[in-house]
Amino acid sequence: PASRKARLKEVCARTAEFYHTQLMRGRGPEADAARSYLAGRGFGGDVPNTWNLGFAPGRGALVRHLSQLGFSTADMIDANVALAGRGGPVRDRFYNRVMFPIFDVSGDCIAFGGRVIGTGEPKYLNSQETPLFHKSQVLYGLDHAKAAMASSGVAIVVEGYTDVIALHEAGIKNVVATLGTALTLRHIRVLSRHASKRIVYLFDGDAAGQRAADRALAFIDKSMTPEAGRSQVDLVAVTLPDNLDPAEFVAARGADALRALVDDAKPLLEYGIERRLANHDLQAAEGRARALEDCLGVLAPIKESILAKDYAVRLAGRLRLRENDVLEALAAKEPPRF
Ligand code: GTP
Ligand code: MN
Ligand code: MN
Ligand code: MN
Ligand code: MN
Repeated sequence: PASRKARLKEVCARTAEFYHTQLMRGRGPEADAARSYLAGRGFGGDVPNTWNLGFAPGRGALVRHLSQLGFSTADMIDANVALAGRGGPVRDRFYNRVMFPIFDVSGDCIAFGGRVIGTGEPKYLNSQETPLFHKSQVLYGLDHAKAAMASSGVAIVVEGYTDVIALHEAGIKNVVATLGTALTLRHIRVLSRHASKRIVYLFDGDAAGQRAADRALAFIDKSMTPEAGRSQVDLVAVTLPDNLDPAEFVAARGADALRALVDDAKPLLEYGIERRLANHDLQAAEGRARALEDCLGVLAPIKESILAKDYAVRLAGRLRLRENDVLEALAAKEPPRF
């Protein structure tokens, strides 16, 4: 019910406030380490205030604080900021981490991401799904980014919270992140309400980024069906070079270089085909045959479209095949099931 959600939002808001105060004024070597960790990443100055960053001390400090404010253990557990102890008392969910509150589009805190300070596993601990928090819908930073998306018509999607913050601080403000999930059709629908022209997916240059890119290809077809809504928004993608992610790239090469990369992003369909071509040895006839099958899988779901036929003709050129052979193969190709 609505009142339950309002209660859980209250828990999240008070929790974010508590963590923020711990970061700004907490004593002891751990709070010091959190502050210097963030400052060392370029997240000093106003950044903790702008993004309401925090520090989770753990050791029951949050549970005690929320109890004093009158919240029940059920409130804390349901908001996923505390965990039921095995037969014992409830425990803080986040311990000795820098905290990134996750806000909805209106700016209400609905969940948290916690990063280990330095190295350790898991690197990020994120809130689980709660009545407030649905990972497949939420985009980190949307409340900060929506005005820039509306004025530019462009939305940039990155993988990490830290990328969102780094790009905003570098002056690129139409940026959001998914929350450790692939971009979903729901995300695309949400973004197309704010950005009327283009959605640019910036994939990390590391192995995980490449896997994310492959997953994104799974909804190329869906984004072109009526299911995706009536929006005319273009989906484009680019992978960052040299194993960099957007935060590292902007730190090393500057905001203008990142803007140039974004402007150079390719339609997701072309990007998908190029990625698949890169996986095969196009010198060998066998490699070209496998590349054709692979690429036709990308085109098959939309094989009736002019666009697919256009790509098929280009593919024939790349694979040194006859156009008619490729068009016939496309017509015969069954769409893969995702
Ligand atoms: P750092 O710059 O190292 O702080 O991380 P990042 O922002 O570059 O994130 P990374 O590319 O490693 O991962 C992208 C996103 O995937 C993160 O923002 C998280 O949402 C998610 N993620 C990364 N590592 C983990 C993990 O260990 N556990 C979970 N649950 N999610 C993770
Ligand atoms: Mn503040
Ligand atoms: Mn990565
Ligand atoms: Mn990073
Ligand atoms: Mn990254």
